[in-house]
Amino acid sequence: MARKPLSVRQEFAGLPVSRFNPTLKGAIPQCPRRDGAPTNDRRVDGVSEASALKTFLDDVDHLPAERLYGRVTSVLGMLVEVAGLERVLSIGGRVDILTRDNRRVPCEAVGFREGRALLLPFGALEGVSLGCAAELSTAEPTVRPTNAWLGRVVNALGEPVDGKGPLPQGRESYPLRAQPPSAHGRRRVGGKLDLGVRAINTFLSCCRGQRMGIFAGSGVGKSVTLSMMARYTEADVNVIGLIGERGREVQEWLEDELGPEGLARSVVVVATSDEPPPMRRQAVYMTLALAEYFRDHSGEVLCMLDSVTRFAMALREIGLAAGEPPASKGYTPSVFGELPQVLERAGPGTSATAGDITGLFTVLVEGDDHSEPIADAVRGILDGHIVLDRQIAERGRYPAINVLRSISRTMPACNTQEQTDLVQRARRLLSTYEDMGELIRIGAYKKGSDPKVDEAIQYVDRIESFLHQDKQERTSLDDGYAMLARALDMPWGDAKNDPNDSGGAGQPAGGGQAGQQGAAQGGGRKARRRDRQG
Ligand SMILES: Nc1ncnc2c1ncn2[C@@H]1O[C@H](COP(=O)(O)OP(=O)(O)OP(=O)(O)O)[C@@H](O)[C@H]1O
Ligand SMILES: [Mg+2]
Repeated sequence: MARKPLSVRQEFAGLPVSRFNPTLKGAIPQCPRRDGAPTNDRRVDGVSEASALKTFLDDVDHLPAERLYGRVTSVLGMLVEVAGLERVLSIGGRVDILTRDNRRVPCEAVGFREGRALLLPFGALEGVSLGCAAELSTAEPTVRPTNAWLGRVVNALGEPVDGKGPLPQGRESYPLRAQPPSAHGRRRVGGKLDLGVRAINTFLSCCRGQRMGIFAGSGVGKSVTLSMMARYTEADVNVIGLIGERGREVQEWLEDELGPEGLARSVVVVATSDEPPPMRRQAVYMTLALAEYFRDHSGEVLCMLDSVTRFAMALREIGLAAGEPPASKGYTPSVFGELPQVLERAGPGTSATAGDITGLFTVLVEGDDHSEPIADAVRGILDGHIVLDRQIAERGRYPAINVLRSISRTMPACNTQEQTDLVQRARRLLSTYEDMGELIRIGAYKKGSDPKVDEAIQYVDRIESFLHQDKQERTSLDDGYAMLARALDMPWGDAKNDPNDSGGAGQPAGGGQAGQQGAAQGGGRKARRRDRQG
């Protein structure tokens, strides 16, 4: 092991370390320049000299004080074995391998075997050979975002990948692998968060700080539903992690589904399926670290992960490479330990934070098997699940939410009695129809045999058309309830107190169209927030 002390601070301009004492930083802008002008007056390319100097000093603070090296002793598949760092490296620690062609391949320690450290790379291993130097990276992986990151797309390392130029670095470092706030320090989940999708707003209301899963097989509409919520939500900021997506789909989703309007108030973290497992895993940590920054500074954050299953698959690849035994469906035990730690980072904030992190996490249920291990584990961790049904999608009813199989665990506590009555009646009608559906379809049910079934038959189409929502359409929370009440011929809001109003009897559910468009066009975010506070 080579040990080489580094004196970056002394090297820089020959200044002594004491000059970089943080207590001196405040004094620097007042230091006179040689020509007599105060330093803080001078601007270069629009940036004040004082602020540039402060940023530089911060960067120097982040430099390691010394460098430690090991050597590559074996490479097997993605796994790199390194000797010489085992006494200073711990699980999760970072090492840069210096390749023969002078590239740096960042790696993470995932285990130890026979006195050697086992590393997985964040990039391609081309150029790595036996004997290559492996440099210990002492800096904890962090990110320093600012509000200027909104509208940008970054990778798992926080580097811009949208070709819009460099990203400004903030003053505060957020660790990628942070602990969730303590359970005692957290607020309770807040009032309802308007997500703009009426089936969810009414039947599965999501509260601020709640964590919901969206469960479906492939191609049933998880990503499109997610993009609708990203565009229409009243949350202040979206942080979206696209994990393990096909590269082609990412651009299409950003341009066609999220669109410029949605992107403008989002930060998107992307790790495509071809990236190494540590990158895909770190993209999730990065997404949550960014969500934590915006929760602390901007307010309500909607954090979306598409998908948790691909994150679990990355964890599985890492676990298996490190020699963990496969357990359920090849997933290693550490996957089931890691999931709650990560998903708990979303949730209500504390008294010190500006807002909460509401989580929406998609889960791919392979072969539409909702009891597969990841779906099961995630369902147990979250505060609700939205099930998308392939049969419903095949009928062309989008979003293909199976209301009867979905649940929001926090909804009962935040509904008014009137809202609960309305939603329960709609659920009862859907359930009765589902029980009798087969008989009704083959003509075995005789009208008049059961008044409950007759009522279900009368209303089921109206409820179905209420649940269908075009992806270009937004429905606010209030409009959603009013539409559902109209569809069920129930009096609602002002109409309830108007003796001349029949409650919209006979009006089809689509009759709320004008209301939806009004909400989409007028009002705006401020008005919606006022509603929420009201
Ligand atoms: N609200 C909607 N309106 C119209 N079509 C939709 C809607 N939602 C989904 N679709 C259709 O379903 C297709 C698949 O949707 P989407 O890509 O969201 O599925 P997914 O569940 O994310 O799939 P994967 O598991 O492959 O990521 C879309 O290309 C679109 O044709
Ligand atoms: Mg998808």
